[in-house]
Amino acid sequence: MLSLSEMAVDVLTTSDGREKTAKSRRHAADWFAAREAGETPEIGRAVPPMQPSRPARPELLDPRQMPKRKPGTPQGRIAMLHAVAHIELNAVDLHWDIIARFSDIPMPVGYYDDWVKAADEESKHFNLMCDCLEDAGSHYGALPAHAGMWRAAEDTAEDFMGRLAVVPMVLEARGLDVTPGMIALFTKAGDRQAVAALETIYAEEVHHVAYGSKWFHFLCGRHEMDPKLAFHDLVGRYFHSSLKPPFNEEKRAEAGLPPDFYWPLT
Ligand SMILES: [Fe+2]
Ligand SMILES: [Fe+2]
Repeated sequence: MLSLSEMAVDVLTTSDGREKTAKSRRHAADWFAAREAGETPEIGRAVPPMQPSRPARPELLDPRQMPKRKPGTPQGRIAMLHAVAHIELNAVDLHWDIIARFSDIPMPVGYYDDWVKAADEESKHFNLMCDCLEDAGSHYGALPAHAGMWRAAEDTAEDFMGRLAVVPMVLEARGLDVTPGMIALFTKAGDRQAVAALETIYAEEVHHVAYGSKWFHFLCGRHEMDPKLAFHDLVGRYFHSSLKPPFNEEKRAEAGLPPDFYWPLT
């Protein structure tokens, strides 16, 4: 069996989306089979690439160059599903990257359980979005996508707590804010498949934010830092924008993000 870090690098260096997510799910299944058998597989050490491998398509554009589409049209809804697919594929790589990138920092095994589970769920989310796109006559890669998604990973490549603050606790928390609006939009359009997929994503993303908050607080305790002050400091350092209300305060609370963490950053 590969070490967990080797599994992570195997996923990160696979470019095709369906192939990447198939590997991700297989490695997660192997990890959890071993865990259920009472073992802790080796975490190991492996060097993750600075940039994960990605398919030749979609073309990656600066956010300002992204074509604007109306959400009320079928094309607009396809563009929205395509954008979510792209976010999910990035999330697969982000979760495996945090495992491999910081494998030199000793963490409890539950930390690895959480991110392997999150990576497995992101892989499922990407496939759900691809299924929706394909059933609508499109596919992942048919439209351009946002180029800036890996920036947070690069900016925090040397800062473990910065990574937890920016990726799960800012970016994934943002997903909790916007997903109910998307579910309403696809409900109105009568697209039951997309609604079911987005509801799965919405239910599972709460846990990813919660894992971020849990391990961020754990590290604050280890280093005797005030979590709220540390969060404000790290988000200010690594996130190049302010946070945008409205916030999904209920789901954020469920995920362990109190209002005094995010309101001062608006
Ligand atoms: Fe996801
Ligand atoms: Fe997620």
